Amino acid sequence: MDKANDAGLYRLECEINETPITIDVLPSRRLLGVLRDELALTGTKRSCELGRCGACMVLLDGKPVNACLAMAYQCAGARITTIEGIGNPETGLDPVQQAFLEEGGFQCGYCTPGMVVSAKALLAENPSPTDAEIEEALSGNICRCTGYASILRAIRRAIESGKGRRHD
Ligand code: FES
Ligand code: FES
Repeated sequence: MDKANDAGLYRLECEINETPITIDVLPSRRLLGVLRDELALTGTKRSCELGRCGACMVLLDGKPVNACLAMAYQCAGARITTIEGIGNPETGLDPVQQAFLEEGGFQCGYCTPGMVVSAKALLAENPSPTDAEIEEALSGNICRCTGYASILRAIRRAIESGKGRRHD
């Protein structure tokens, strides 16, 4: 971190959902806070803030990371994708999101964004994962209430329809 200005703020320059961003933040700021509080990207959820629940999952240069654990300065020059950059009703839903809707995998607003982000990361890396690989990929995403059956069905549906990846 070498960009603290006279006000003690760190100038973060990165790309979020394909848009270049420059923002001055406290050096102690985490990515989750910057996304939600400064940039109003509230699809990324704040829950445990300890890296245990996966509600805050985003893609950092294509890899899933917990935004609550990533310091803003660690994101310099990175390409960040939040759930808003994966798809929304205006731009169109991503096929994985569509499969979540069709299979009832969209269970609550807290865990779903992180589940979708983790599923996207998995399918980008491995378009034909086994059930065990799907479960492993979702192991960092905790559902405290409903369970995983619909979520697993949704991911399998996205795989089976060959729609795991956008633009397929
Ligand atoms: S809020 Fe980040 S892992 Fe729970
Ligand atoms: S935490 Fe979202 S459905 Fe259980």
